[in-house]
Amino acid sequence: MDELSIASLDRIGYSYVEEGNPALRDISLEVRRGEWLALLGGNGSGKSTLAKHLNALLAPMQGACFISGMDSRDERNLWEIRKTISMVFQNPENQIVSTVVEDDTAFGPENLGLPPDEIENRVKKALDIAGLSDKAKSASYTLSGGQKQRLAIAGAIAMEPPCIVLDEPTAMLDPQGRGEVMALLEELHGHGITIIHITHRLEEIRKATRAVVLQAGRLIWDGLPEDLFKEPELTSWGLELPPIVSFWRRLRERGLCEDDVILTVEGLVNRLCR
Ligand SMILES: Nc1ncnc2c1ncn2[C@@H]1O[C@H](COP(=O)(O)OP(=O)(O)OP(=O)(O)O)[C@@H](O)[C@H]1O
Ligand SMILES: [Mg+2]
Repeated sequence: MDELSIASLDRIGYSYVEEGNPALRDISLEVRRGEWLALLGGNGSGKSTLAKHLNALLAPMQGACFISGMDSRDERNLWEIRKTISMVFQNPENQIVSTVVEDDTAFGPENLGLPPDEIENRVKKALDIAGLSDKAKSASYTLSGGQKQRLAIAGAIAMEPPCIVLDEPTAMLDPQGRGEVMALLEELHGHGITIIHITHRLEEIRKATRAVVLQAGRLIWDGLPEDLFKEPELTSWGLELPPIVSFWRRLRERGLCEDDVILTVEGLVNRLCR
């Protein structure tokens, strides 16, 4: 394992039930520091099960999972693994633990047993990055869905982990909330945080540096997001093309567009009016 690797999965397998289909089969994956990895797949393909291996909520039944070199099967590593990789889940409501925004963000650092001024600094910084500084004293329940999810992300980054795993963080949000969360992911990536972003919305992978696809518990594709959009089999993997990309693919089939994927209305209009 090289030292740039933050997570290293070596042929892992996992089953919830003794008989029947395993949730994960023979998955090998190396996630390097600084990557923004989009983890895609249809319903039930194993995305959340894989995510739970990354912060040792589950241990592999076959193979091994190393986080910053620490074997997740060794219980003595759990604490350090969870400091290395923070998790953010789908439903922001379930992740808020305090009635006041800044107390909620302080929850993680307090559990780390940090001194009060260090906690205060971290909370300030995390709320600032999440764009919630002006809400620090507000009641958590008054926030919008997008703001609540940004609060959950602020709580995760206040732990100052090198890596954050987000399991469909936009699934329960309206378009505005989704936009806010995606902008925040870009900001985090700019701060050097490794991002593992689980989604089944292909329009959310544009800024990722790498994409992998799971199908029926297997890792079936690994490459650059722009190449994934060209993949002919995509829709049979339970993934839906954004309308613009679908349009671009049809035009490309007829020789009306070049090979470079077009992802925005603006880009398509520019191409067609040229
Ligand atoms: N607690 C559980 N007990 C039994 N089977 C489970 C459990 N959790 C998940 N599974 C099964 O394991 C497989 C993978 O599920 P997982 O939740 O990892 O998929 P997913 O890709 O996250 O799906 P979704 O897009 O619906 O979130 C599915 O077949 C699912 O039914
Ligand atoms: Mg899931």
